[in-house]
Amino acid sequence: MPGDLARGRLKVEWARGHMPVLEGIRRRFEAEQPLKGLTVAAVLHVEAKTCALALALRAAGADVRLAASNPLTTDDDAVAAVRDAGVPTWAEKGESLAQYHAGLRAVLDADPDLIVDDGADLVALVHTRVGQRGKIRGSTEETTTGVTRLRALEKSGKLLFPAIDVNDAAMKHLFDNRYGTGQSTIDGILTATNLLIAGKVCVVAGYGWCGKGVAARLHGLGGDVVVTEIDPVRALEARLDGFRVMPMLDAAREADLIVTVTGNTDIVRAEHFRVLKDGCLLANSGHFDVEVSKRDLEGMAVAHRTARPNVEEYRFSDGRRAYLLAEGRLVNISAGQGHPVEIMDLSFALQALSTEHLAKHGRTMDLKLHPVPEALDREVARAALGPMGIRLDEPTKEQVKYAAAWEGGTT
Ligand SMILES: NC(=O)c1ccc[n+]([C@@H]2O[C@H](COP(=O)([O-])OP(=O)(O)OC[C@H]3O[C@@H](n4cnc5c(N)ncnc54)[C@H](O)[C@@H]3O)[C@@H](O)[C@H]2O)c1
Repeated sequence: MPGDLARGRLKVEWARGHMPVLEGIRRRFEAEQPLKGLTVAAVLHVEAKTCALALALRAAGADVRLAASNPLTTDDDAVAAVRDAGVPTWAEKGESLAQYHAGLRAVLDADPDLIVDDGADLVALVHTRVGQRGKIRGSTEETTTGVTRLRALEKSGKLLFPAIDVNDAAMKHLFDNRYGTGQSTIDGILTATNLLIAGKVCVVAGYGWCGKGVAARLHGLGGDVVVTEIDPVRALEARLDGFRVMPMLDAAREADLIVTVTGNTDIVRAEHFRVLKDGCLLANSGHFDVEVSKRDLEGMAVAHRTARPNVEEYRFSDGRRAYLLAEGRLVNISAGQGHPVEIMDLSFALQALSTEHLAKHGRTMDLKLHPVPEALDREVARAALGPMGIRLDEPTKEQVKYAAAWEGGTT
């Protein structure tokens, strides 16, 4: 559905008004024009916050092309606003897979110099469809799943250009994955269901950066949180954070709500559906819609209907019902409003600085996955503290000397 331009403009204005770090970078970009003459293909969840990034890259002199990184996470009002501001955009909430892939092809057809990717679908398309670097100086990657795919590409020796792993920058995963996914996943679940979390057994699959955030927020709302894991360290961490840990088959028997955030596939599948309690809610905040097996759910269900917007009811032959939220796609952006604006300020500030870095150095960087340069990570941290009125101590000369010496020990 076409979005509402006036509403979109207000949403973008609201986002930009709460993104001081990115806005500071945009002002510098406007003056310095570091992307002048370059084309940027950005494949991201197209929301108001994303428009703020697109406008910052354009202010830097780039010709920006924007496409959705997921068929269900687009805000059509934001699309109307960013198109109106002159950024060609391929995104529509609820678009078909054919439309989605056409969007990827369209931004690639612009012969980009730089790629901003979220989930690595565009980078994968370059490697399968074009198979050559062309003008591309490099790409940046926003999320864990995209980084996992890039690592596999790097390992295969086929990576055609340098990529920057924005996800693993401190200023990204410590805040976006944990606090951003934590808060917005709850937003999505509550908006979709209007149900109470307190008193519910809430199973969180995966105790990574996102899982920690989701578990903490569910606990904060009075949920009885159970964690499932395959990593012994993370399992212990979850236990010592106060949560019960058990295999999914046991957890599924008690669950009122299951949230998957593993980045892996088939986390909740037929064997689990067989033991679910009646009415269990199934939500996913991992990048792809593969964590709750829709194939198994559809195969086992004898009836299916839409119970509410973003809530699909599946009825099994014994009468039990399971409710899949947002078609198993990212519940926080599909059914909720996505990450809080201030969180995306940090993530997109890193994206903007990393894109500038690739524009300057991409042609001479090794063909591998690079971390965000530490100086950029710290620049974003310092810029974020300023508007919050938080000041730091400066180490004394004595402290600098002490921290750099090996001689001082027991006194
Ligand atoms: N919803 C969002 O807005 C959003 C934001 C950031 C990241 N993500 C996505 O969320 C997913 C998780 O990201 P992360 O940063 O937390 O990753 P992470 O690597 O820090 O954590 C994933 C955790 O899942 C565990 N895991 C893997 N397979 C499992 C299984 N079969 N059962 C139980 N646990 C399993 C891993 O051991 C790990 O601890 C990724 O797909 C990422 O792209 C989504």
